[in-house]
Amino acid sequence: MQHAILLLSYLIGSVTFIIGLKMLSHPDSARKGNLVAAAGMTIAIAATIFLYKDGDTGEGLHNYGWIFGGLIIGSIVGTLAAKKVQMTAMPEMVSLFNGMGGACAMLISIIEFKHHTIGNVEFYEEAGTSIYSTLPGTLFVTIILGMVIGSVSFAGSIIAWGKLNGKIKDFSFNGQHIMNILLMGIIAALTVYMVAVKPDNTPMLFYGTLVLALIYGVMFVLPIGGADMPVVISLLNSFTGVAAAFGGFLYDNPVMLTGGILVGSAGTILTILMCKAMNRSLKNVLIGSFGGNKAGGATGSKEQGNYKEISLNDTAVLMAYAQKVMIIPGYGLAVAQAQHICHELEKQLQEKGVEVSYGIHPVAGRMPGHMNVLLAEADVPYEKLLEMEDANDQMGSTNVVLILGANDVVNPAAKEDPSSPIYGMPILEVEKAEHVIVNKRSMKPGYAGIENELFFKPKTSMLFGDAKKVLQDLVAELKNV
Ligand code: TAP
Repeated sequence: MQHAILLLSYLIGSVTFIIGLKMLSHPDSARKGNLVAAAGMTIAIAATIFLYKDGDTGEGLHNYGWIFGGLIIGSIVGTLAAKKVQMTAMPEMVSLFNGMGGACAMLISIIEFKHHTIGNVEFYEEAGTSIYSTLPGTLFVTIILGMVIGSVSFAGSIIAWGKLNGKIKDFSFNGQHIMNILLMGIIAALTVYMVAVKPDNTPMLFYGTLVLALIYGVMFVLPIGGADMPVVISLLNSFTGVAAAFGGFLYDNPVMLTGGILVGSAGTILTILMCKAMNRSLKNVLIGSFGGNKAGGATGSKEQGNYKEISLNDTAVLMAYAQKVMIIPGYGLAVAQAQHICHELEKQLQEKGVEVSYGIHPVAGRMPGHMNVLLAEADVPYEKLLEMEDANDQMGSTNVVLILGANDVVNPAAKEDPSSPIYGMPILEVEKAEHVIVNKRSMKPGYAGIENELFFKPKTSMLFGDAKKVLQDLVAELKNV
């Protein structure tokens, strides 16, 4: 009976993961989706703690002090970190938490390796065999793969976290990729040797492989450029999922297996989608030709001509007398934390009879869905958010486009300049609108580190200043129009 309830809890847990994941795909339901999946996880954990019984001995879990100690400390740290984190530091936190998942998978494998070998020493002595010789092949492969993938994910995520918060700098040397391939080859060869031969020095080889996997995780992420970090984090996330799924195999635990597979596949799909939205291949991201040196720094020296500025008053008049206004949010809006005042502006324009929508580029900001989350935080109705294709369809009939802290995602070089590093990336085609107003603080480039010809086009006017301050002033100005 107890076992049946345990299995039912696992089934409920697995189903809530799937429902939660589905709900995450829509901003309206995403928050609830997260809670649904978390509730399922809580049920699965509680059921394991209180209902699990060993198949052979019939004993339940021990070490309750450790289990509850870990649960309490982890819950406190997780809650505080999630409450404190700034929206712009979200990728950093995701990376750190993902690293913890990788570390868990790695530790599970280490413990299970000991458990099935040294822990079974009496059994081996009775059978008159060496400790390792009868270790089942499938079990051993599962343990090693969980350990290797978990270690790579742990070490890589910690490096990604350090790079995102500026503590660790990009680092690469000639032949680094060859060294990485070599490391991978040695890890694979050691795995095959350990499983096929099971020599007496297996522990030494096992822990040697662990160290090599950790080094590989560090070397794999170190040279990848800042702009490409979200793609790498998503990839590492899928690694953690796969490593956790191996843990599910080891413990014959269906909910761990389902959770791991879901994280693994969702992370892989997200990685592919991000690469597509930036028109980059995964190989290009991993070998790194664009994100690294150019990202976030270069000022771009090509002389583009003159740009013209627009005053707050003229902007307010232009928008108040427009029929259709489209707001294009970008990374700068998140930096300025101007989402609430942006929503104010939208409501004010609407009261004046202006039709307002938002054009959302899939990689605007610094993480997937960044703009959706940002605007949802300010209660912007989801129907107002247009996906890039729909936004581009409506651009021709739009009177004013207001670009708030976006740059690369509206850069026409992506369509017109084959030599540009962002060439081929789909963009919001703002030039089709009647007037284009760009709000940013200076003429500095965006993340790709390249000039934006849009700022110098006859249709474009620059409205300089911090997005929050500019929007506050614009809202005040509109009251007088
Ligand atoms: P960016 O091209 O990075 O441009 C942001 C602009 O915001 C900057 O040019 C900056 O100009 C301006 N800005 C910064 N702080 C501001 C403030 N307080 N007020 C007003 N403006 C401010 O952003 P984007 O157009 O959103 O494009 C995103 C970039 O990130 C793309 O290159 C994309 O490929 C990359 N990326 C995104 C993702 C995901 S998943 N979203 C993942 C990896 C890479 P000033 O300094 O002059 O103000």
